[in-house]
Amino acid sequence: MGKIIAVSNQKGGVGKTTTAINLASGLGYLGNKVLLVDFDPQGNATQGVGANVSGNKLSVYNLIMEDYEADAVRKTLSSPPIDIIPANISLAGADLQMVKFEVGKEELLKKKLDKIRDEYDFIIIDCPPSLGLLNTNALTAADSVIIPVQCEYYALEGVTQLLLTIRLVQQLFNEKLMIEGVVLTMFDARTKLSVEVQQEVRKHFKDRVYRSYIPRNIKLSEAPSRGMSIFEYDVRCEGAKAYAGLANEVVKSNRK
Ligand SMILES: Nc1ncnc2c1ncn2[C@@H]1O[C@H](COP(=O)(O)OP(=O)(O)OP(=O)(O)O)[C@@H](O)[C@H]1O
Ligand SMILES: [Mg+2]
Repeated sequence: MGKIIAVSNQKGGVGKTTTAINLASGLGYLGNKVLLVDFDPQGNATQGVGANVSGNKLSVYNLIMEDYEADAVRKTLSSPPIDIIPANISLAGADLQMVKFEVGKEELLKKKLDKIRDEYDFIIIDCPPSLGLLNTNALTAADSVIIPVQCEYYALEGVTQLLLTIRLVQQLFNEKLMIEGVVLTMFDARTKLSVEVQQEVRKHFKDRVYRSYIPRNIKLSEAPSRGMSIFEYDVRCEGAKAYAGLANEVVKSNRK
């Protein structure tokens, strides 16, 4: 049965989408069957792998808000070798419409993903930068959460809030939800700050922090504009090595 992992941190711009795309792709290149679910109205993961949906194509909005099943909305890509359920701005409307549902509004994504999880080894969900109903839906559907933490001031501040949300979702909707791991992003070895944040995060989360950390690497920011994961864009760069390392760690820790 496939493992569903949400990549979540309500703080904006910490590397969620970059991690979701490149972890999913890395897992795909390691021979796993992978589905990437774009669950952010910004649609950055969708655009980042070149799977753009214009206004009239089906997206994750139709999956969770209408009678469509995954088959109607997912696309199979070849490079990277993953499937994707795309998102676009219509998902922002879902966030508002869901509020009015009397029951089950937290379980809309879970209901649809549970039907197809057997087809995959890993399902990776890219979450939006907020703690609203979309994020709750992702955490309710997921088995575990990967938390990207950017190596900068106040890195841990938002994480405290996310941990409270995770606990709340555990109590109300998904008692089995676990923390898969914490990944340090945009690490810059030249700055004392990056080194200090890395030490602090490791002190706080101990062995839940991945040994692989993601360096600040310009190639990682260029790849999405070409609709490529880092592995097609420049497989030899430091960013690709780091995400390959992360994918390996995720596979290993799930073999145990
Ligand atoms: N390791 C890195 N090195 C250099 N640039 C990076 C790195 N990781 C992410 N970026 C860039 O930083 C910006 C924010 O990254 P990303 O979109 O992955 O964050 P996010 O948490 O998904 O943002 P949002 O909260 O808006 O969804 C992007 O322009 C991305 O290309
Ligand atoms: Mg994002």
